[in-house]
Amino acid sequence: MSLKKMLQFSTGALLLLLLPWFGGLVTGEIGDNFSKCHHFFYEQTPPEGIDSAGYQPICQRYENKYRFASLYDRQHRVPLYSAYILSSPDGNRPKEPWMYEPQLAFSCASSEMKPCHTPIDNNVIESQAVPQDCKDSTYTKGHLNPSMHQWTNEDREATFTLTNIVPQKAGSNTGPWNILENEMLRKFKTYCNGSMYVITGAMPYSSGPRWIKNRVSVPEYMWSAYCCPSYITNLPESVRPFFPHIRCSGKK
Ligand SMILES: *[C@@H]1O[C@H](CO)[C@@H](O)[C@H](O)[C@H]1NC(C)=O
Ligand SMILES: *[C@@H]1O[C@H](CO)[C@@H](O)[C@H](O)[C@H]1NC(C)=O
Repeated sequence: MSLKKMLQFSTGALLLLLLPWFGGLVTGEIGDNFSKCHHFFYEQTPPEGIDSAGYQPICQRYENKYRFASLYDRQHRVPLYSAYILSSPDGNRPKEPWMYEPQLAFSCASSEMKPCHTPIDNNVIESQAVPQDCKDSTYTKGHLNPSMHQWTNEDREATFTLTNIVPQKAGSNTGPWNILENEMLRKFKTYCNGSMYVITGAMPYSSGPRWIKNRVSVPEYMWSAYCCPSYITNLPESVRPFFPHIRCSGKK
């Protein structure tokens, strides 16, 4: 047995031993705030005024790097919003796999998203949406942070976590919503000098949740807000943003 293996082995045994007493100290990275990924929010400030009960902040981590942030509604098994920094894609939409978040299912698990392989563990199915949820429904998997708003291939792959997905009618996903996403990308390329911060969210039906498979709630509305703190100077009049003086609101 190599030294590394042995260390891993003994560490594992140690954790098991300590778990009953120090469970709180050795849990996974799941926190109750966005402290590890607040740089995805303008001025590092997540939206305020949301009653935090029932929502789980997720710092979306993939291949050892934080990629964006989502606030997850455990009861409805959908994100309330995803926050990200938009950039022009340097390549195509990646191939799936869809991924899940181990740390939602097991408090000690890694906070890295993992591909969904069947059979899926029951704890995972309980704690979040899984690829089968949209099957045989009239809904598609709608990205809040779309892969085509991300520069690197890894950043694009990371958007395929199901905690970034809401059920969306096919006609909306490929129609008006797709137009809106393209328009945001065009605005970024044309006007924005530096980072563009985006928060895209989904609102559950105000009249009470509507479910697919009795598990995942369908949103009534989707919304998106973006903020470009610094516009390109000397834009020709014809392409200047209509309200260049309206800046991003945030805590000063
Ligand atoms: C955020 O969570 C971490 C642990 O998850 C905690 O140490 C820190 O105090 C929290 N920060 C705020 C502002 O609540
Ligand atoms: C972008 O902003 C920087 C300062 O933050 C400035 O020096 C540069 O000229 C700007 N570029 C354009 C194209 O406006």
